[in-house]
Amino acid sequence: MPLFRASADHVVKDRPKWRKIRCSRVLEEDDSVPSLMQLCLLSLADNMKKVWVKDYADNYMDNYSFRHIMGPFNMLSGELVEELTSLLCSRKQLSRAALHLLLVPQLRGLSLERFPGLVTPALCAIIAARCQGLHNLNLSGAQQLPSKALSDTLRCLPTLRSLSLSGTSCDGGIIRTVVFCCPLLRHLDVSGCHFLPPAALLPLGALFPSSKCSPSGSSSSTSVAPLALCSLLALDIGFGEQEGDLAAVVAYLLLSMPHLERLAVEGLSQACRLIQRRYFTQVDLFAFREGLPRLEEVWRERRRLQHTDSWKTRRVEAQDGYESESEDDEKDCSQNVTNEKSGDDHITLRLRDVKDLTCESLDSFGCLCPNITSISVNAEDEEDIGGRSLPTLLATGLQSWSGQLRSLSVHHQGPLLDLLPALQVSGSSLVSLTLEGVRTNPHAPLPELIRACPKLKVLLISAEPPASLLDQEPDERELPSLPNLCSLTLNFSYEHKQMRPLMYWMSLMKVIRCLLSGSPLLQRLSLVSLPCPLNNVLQRVLCYGDRHHRFGASDPSLPKALERVQHLDLQRTDVKMTTVKNIIQRSKRLKCVDLSCCWQISHQEWADCKRLSTVRVVWV
Ligand SMILES: *[C@@H]1O[C@H](CO)[C@@H](O)[C@H](O)[C@H]1NC(C)=O
Ligand SMILES: *[C@@H]1O[C@H](CO)[C@@H](O)[C@H](O)[C@H]1NC(C)=O
Ligand SMILES: *[C@@H]1O[C@H](CO)[C@@H](O)[C@H](O)[C@H]1NC(C)=O
Ligand SMILES: *[C@@H]1O[C@H](CO)[C@@H](O)[C@H](O)[C@H]1NC(C)=O
Ligand SMILES: *[C@@H]1O[C@H](CO)[C@@H](O)[C@H](O)[C@H]1NC(C)=O
Repeated sequence: MPLFRASADHVVKDRPKWRKIRCSRVLEEDDSVPSLMQLCLLSLADNMKKVWVKDYADNYMDNYSFRHIMGPFNMLSGELVEELTSLLCSRKQLSRAALHLLLVPQLRGLSLERFPGLVTPALCAIIAARCQGLHNLNLSGAQQLPSKALSDTLRCLPTLRSLSLSGTSCDGGIIRTVVFCCPLLRHLDVSGCHFLPPAALLPLGALFPSSKCSPSGSSSSTSVAPLALCSLLALDIGFGEQEGDLAAVVAYLLLSMPHLERLAVEGLSQACRLIQRRYFTQVDLFAFREGLPRLEEVWRERRRLQHTDSWKTRRVEAQDGYESESEDDEKDCSQNVTNEKSGDDHITLRLRDVKDLTCESLDSFGCLCPNITSISVNAEDEEDIGGRSLPTLLATGLQSWSGQLRSLSVHHQGPLLDLLPALQVSGSSLVSLTLEGVRTNPHAPLPELIRACPKLKVLLISAEPPASLLDQEPDERELPSLPNLCSLTLNFSYEHKQMRPLMYWMSLMKVIRCLLSGSPLLQRLSLVSLPCPLNNVLQRVLCYGDRHHRFGASDPSLPKALERVQHLDLQRTDVKMTTVKNIIQRSKRLKCVDLSCCWQISHQEWADCKRLSTVRVVWV
C-alpha cells in the first residue's frame, strides 16, 4: 500500500554540486551561513517527526509490512537520504518509524552505530530487502543482533565496500558469509567481537580452496575470488585455542592478503618476527590442525608474486629511463639470505597503518613494511633488550620511516625523556602524536618535544604528574609554537583522594601559554588535572596572547588565540568563571565546556552561566 504517491518524473537526481556541499560540511564551521540545501534538510528533519513519521507510526508501521514505501524519501537522491539520516542521528531524533521511511533502495551508506538498539532482526530484514545497493554499512555496537540475522542480511548486500561490525556477535560464520557474498569488500572492522576466534579470520586471505568458503558449509562448486581487503581492524576479539596460534594466524593473514594497508590485530609483532626470521616450522602443527598449506609455501608464493610484480615495474621504469634503486634498498634489509645475488629473497608488505607493535619488533618490521605512515607502539613491560635501551630501540626502529611517518602513538610508562630521541628521528613529518602513560617531572623536555614536531595538528599527552617538588628554572629561550595545531590534550592522572592536583610544575605554565597563543587554529582543547595553575595562563593568553604571538598581531587574517575553540575541557583546574566567560565571548564557535571539579567555580556561578549562554557547560 503506497503511503505517498510519487510520479516518476519528479525524481530528484544527484546534482554534481551536491558533492561540493557534502565536502564543505566538514568545514561548515567556517562559513557561518548554511547552504540552502542544509536549511532544507534541517527543516525536513524538524518536520519529519510531526508529519510523516507520526502518520506512518500511527497507521501503518505495526499493521503492515511494506516491501517498499513510496513516499517523499524515495524521490530524494541516496546521498540526501544519507545526509538526512545522519542529521537525525546527530540530533538523536532517529526512531524506528523514521528509519523505516528512510531505508530506500538508492541508499549507499547506512551508519546506525549511534542507535544500536534499533538494529533488530526485523530491521535487518528490511535492510536486506530494500537496500541491496549499500556500499557502506556500520552496525557497530548492535550487541543484541543474533549472528543468524546478521548473516542473512549480509547475504543480500553484494556491493558492500565497507562493513563495521565492532562489538557485535560476529563469528566465524559471518566471516565466511562475507568472503562468499561480499566480493567487493575493502574495509572490515570486527574489533571487540568476542565470539570471533582469531583463526576464524583466515578465510579472509587467499589460502583456502574457494569452495570451503561456502557460507552454508556444504562444499559448493561455485568458486569465489579471494577478497582484496585493504583494511582489517580486529583488536580485542575472541581467544584462540592456543597461545602461539595468534602469531601464526597473523602471519598467514599478512602473507595471504596482498592488498592490506591498514591492520589492527594483536600478535602483529610476533608474526613479523616469525616471517622476518623464517621460523616457519614453528607453526607447522597449527597449519596441520587448521588444514592450511605450510607457511613456508605461502611465503614462497607471496615472494613469487612480488617478484613478478616488481620485475614488471622495473622493466617499465627502465623503459622510462629511470634508474631503479629498489634492489639496493632490498639488500639492506635482507641479512643472511640464502640467495644473496638476486636480492629479492625477502618480501615487503604494503602496510601503512598498524597498531599495537612492540619496540623490539620495530627493526624487523621496518624491513618488512617500508611504507608505514601511521603506527602505534606499546612499550609497556619492555625490558632493555640485547643491551639496547628502550629509547635507542624506539629511535632506531622508527628510523626506517623517518620523513614519512605522519601519525605516532606510544604507550610508555616511563619518563617522557625516554621518547625524545625517537621524536627527534621521526618528529619532523608527524601530524599526530599521542603519548600515553608517560611519567613527567619538572625537567620533562616538553619544549624540545614541541620543537621536534613542528607540523603537529593533533597532540595528546596523558601523563603522570611530577612526583618531586623541585622546579626547573624557566627556560629563557623563545619557546616554540605549533601553528597548525587543531587539537591539544594534556591530561594528568590524579589520586582519587585528593580533590586538587599539587601545583608545582611552574615552567609548564609558560609552555601552555606559548602553545595557546601560537596555535590560532585550535578547535579542541583539553587541559585536565594540570600540575600547575591555569587561570592566569588563560587570562594572559586572552589579554596579551596575540601581541606576543609569533605571526605578529598585525596579521588580521589569522584568528586570535582561542577564537576557534569548539570543545573545551578544563576539568580539575583552578580556572575561574570570569575566565570561562571571557573565552565564551572570544569564541563564537564554542559548543561545550567541561568544568567538572574546578574548585574555584561555585554552583551559583555555573547555574548563571548555564542560563545565560547557549554553550553547554558541564560542572559537577
Ligand atoms: C493497527 O493495529 C492496531 C492494533 O495493533 C489497531 O489499534 C489500529 O487501529 C490499526 N490501525 C489501522 C490503520 O488499521
Ligand atoms: C562505525 O562506527 C564506529 C562506532 O562509532 C566508529 O568507531 C567507526 O569508525 C565507524 N566505521 C566507519 C567505517 O565509519
Ligand atoms: C648470518 O650467517 C652467518 C653465517 O652464515 C652466521 O654466522 C650469523 O650468525 C648469521 N647472522 C644472523 C643474524 O643470523
Ligand atoms: C610503497 O609506496 C610506493 C609509493 O606509493 C609504491 O610504489 C610501492 O609499491 C609501495 N611498496 C609496497 C611494498 O607496497
Ligand atoms: C585522560 O587520559 C586517559 C588515557 O587516555 C583517559 O582514560 C582518561 O579518560 C582521560 N581523562 C580525561 C578527564 O580526559
